[in-house]
Amino acid sequence: MNLLLTGVAGFIGSHLAERLIADGHTIVGVDNFDSFYSRSFKNENLKLLKASSSFSFYEADIRNNLLIQDIFLKNKIDLVVHLAAKAGVRPSMLHVAEYYEVNLAGTINLLENMRQNNITNLVFASSSSVYGNNKKVPFSEEDSVDQPISPYAATKRSGELLCKVYNHLYGFNISCLRFFTVFGPRQRPDLAIHKFTRLIDENKPIPFFGDGSTARDYTYIDDIIQGVVRSIDKLNGFNIYNLGESRVITLRQMVQSIEKLSGKMAILDKLPLQMGDVNITYADISKAKTELGYAPLHDFESGMKKFFEWYQNSKKLIYS
Ligand SMILES: NC(=O)c1ccc[n+]([C@@H]2O[C@H](COP(=O)([O-])OP(=O)(O)OC[C@H]3O[C@@H](n4cnc5c(N)ncnc54)[C@H](O)[C@@H]3O)[C@@H](O)[C@H]2O)c1
Repeated sequence: MNLLLTGVAGFIGSHLAERLIADGHTIVGVDNFDSFYSRSFKNENLKLLKASSSFSFYEADIRNNLLIQDIFLKNKIDLVVHLAAKAGVRPSMLHVAEYYEVNLAGTINLLENMRQNNITNLVFASSSSVYGNNKKVPFSEEDSVDQPISPYAATKRSGELLCKVYNHLYGFNISCLRFFTVFGPRQRPDLAIHKFTRLIDENKPIPFFGDGSTARDYTYIDDIIQGVVRSIDKLNGFNIYNLGESRVITLRQMVQSIEKLSGKMAILDKLPLQMGDVNITYADISKAKTELGYAPLHDFESGMKKFFEWYQNSKKLIYS
């Protein structure tokens, strides 16, 4: 298959493109090197891909209709995986308009170009943040998602609704995948595991929000990729799937794990809980298990070991 992958220079996109090429697919990658984190980091992510004859790359913004039109004109595309987005909960409160422009206007531009080119297969990256501070855990796809607590979460939920509209009006096959905090090699530098690892490594204090009891369902990158690949293979109608490990790790446990791996004690800069941050994320993955055959394989500790190994080997390259 020929797949168009947006956000290909990012954490999840670069892993996914590598896996799909290894599986025999051809990838047309799109990314604008958004300044949320460094271009040199993203260039490292693309290194393996750029050596492959099954990979072509366009530096383009998904909001730029002329550029996106041209990409669809020049390439035969069977399916789109749309990962490009302004990611991150806290920065979304400072840059609301930009989050809406990229995550919604950009998604609409992509959907419209697909429609005009009769491409009707899409996998869309959504997020566990759509569940807000729902009390019932684990979170199920059946639960209400009408109470997002950050602009980022609202853009992801709105993206799902747009996808539903294109399924209804034009018969698109779309799976919206709600990723639960993804970690592993190449993790985004703003995400807590990566950020804290770097700060602890450099003997700097870490911002420690609340009493350490907030909890996340951390999902290892290879498991997320497995879920995305299975959802590509089983794309049929409109569906929403949680992709998580269905295990919960507290903030305190996460910091302890970094301390153990680095052999250094964290210096805690204790701060109140942040607006927009949810207390817990915890995925009910029974739907993805039953319908996609999704079976996450990594526990937190083994995933952390692989992340830490990657960090140690890459820190000079990505932070020079
Ligand atoms: N990493 C997680 O824990 C997580 C959790 C839930 C959902 N998600 C979603 O998964 C997707 C991928 O996340 P990630 O962690 O790999 O993030 P990332 O920031 O590493 O990757 C996103 C990529 O999109 C690109 N991009 C941003 N704006 C763009 C634009 N206007 N045009 C073209 N490219 C643009 C960026 O340059 C970046 O390379 C995002 O949609 C994110 O919201 C991620």
